[in-house]
Amino acid sequence: MTTPFSTLIRTASHEQHTEAETSGFMTDLLGGRLGVDAYTRYTEQLWFVYRALEDGAGALRPDPVAGPFVQPELFRTEALERDLAHLRGADWRAGVSALPATRAYAARIAECARDWPGGYVAHHYTRYLGDLSGGQIIRDRAERAWGFARKGDGVRFYVFDAIPNPAAFKRAYRELLDAVAADELEKRRIVDECKRAFDFNGAMFRELSGEFSLSA
Ligand code: HEM
Repeated sequence: MTTPFSTLIRTASHEQHTEAETSGFMTDLLGGRLGVDAYTRYTEQLWFVYRALEDGAGALRPDPVAGPFVQPELFRTEALERDLAHLRGADWRAGVSALPATRAYAARIAECARDWPGGYVAHHYTRYLGDLSGGQIIRDRAERAWGFARKGDGVRFYVFDAIPNPAAFKRAYRELLDAVAADELEKRRIVDECKRAFDFNGAMFRELSGEFSLSA
């Protein structure tokens, strides 16, 4: 019996997921050791990442591999823009900048969106399924640490208004993964790209840590 692709991709990235969860930046941020400025800087980086994911999405709609994953109820750019307006003020666009790791990450997503639908699926999975899962823990901590209104401005990125039942949505998403129109070799390449996506996130966290290092 062959392993379902959703299991394969989850298992293959499990170790890197633990690394991401326990990375210095995440644990410092969620442990209340960093200020709202670090949370804001992280949110800015996400804006660059999701713009790359979502700017390229429309053109992929008819694609047999990536098309089924393009679901507007997941889109995060607008929520991020509301959060950034709250965190940085109305003229937030003038002050945001992508870290080098973020630039490389967004460029790779854009490249996949343009040239390789399977690669786009890897990046889609790594971000959106994570946001629907651990993202909810991050939201809860951020609301408590910095006093954002529950599911309000500042944490809208983590609120999927159009997905009332995240568990059911994730089940359906895994079915899409299991049915992905790719042969075994292509599936292996998608898994490798997923690992690369985790690496990009790790690099972004390291650079964020560098900007907000805690003095001993
Ligand atoms: C402190 C940070 C994080 C926490 C607390 C966290 C927590 C979780 C939890 C509890 C799940 C399990 C959900 C389930 O079984 O349905 C999950 C799944 C997932 N997370 Fe995270 N996570 C974090 C960071 C990240 C990061 C940085 C990424 C990648 C960018 C990520 C990507 C994923 C993915 C892709 C899944 C879905 C796995 C699957 O079921 O296929 N997570 N996360």
